[in-house]
Amino acid sequence: MAQESPASTLVPELVQQLLLSSREAKKSAYCPYSHFPVGAALLTEDGRIFTGCNVENACYPLGVCAERTALQKAISEGYKRFRAIAISSDLQDDFISPCGACRQVMREFGTSWAVYMTKPDGTYVVRTVQELLPCSFGPEDLQKIQ
Ligand code: THU
Repeated sequence: MAQESPASTLVPELVQQLLLSSREAKKSAYCPYSHFPVGAALLTEDGRIFTGCNVENACYPLGVCAERTALQKAISEGYKRFRAIAISSDLQDDFISPCGACRQVMREFGTSWAVYMTKPDGTYVVRTVQELLPCSFGPEDLQKIQ
């Protein structure tokens, strides 16, 4: 399989749009147990944005993170090529960082796209999926045995 190209840089206006979309999505978070709202905004290769929030459940393990909500929405609408995802939370002093499960689900759809981890003041750090989940297992590995 051809090597994937590294994450392309987004123009600043698009970064801002993605960050704002993730912050807006956070308003819909259903998190009565953790009281920890999270929003995500996922940019497809052709420029669409799918948003998501965390959706918790009284049966705690059934809760779903904002990132996976956005991914499930996009995939179920026929989109599976992504340029970036932005994540927002109410943590004032830390950049919100995706959990291991979300990193693995992101990785399913490539390792070279960008993850923007934000603070409420609009600052962010950006890493590729590869950087967040090195030495990962993915769909290509399943094709290595007959
Ligand atoms: N959560 C997310 O939605 N995304 C993250 O990146 C970190 C954690 C959610 C899961 C749960 O609903 C709440 O935040 C507390 O862990």
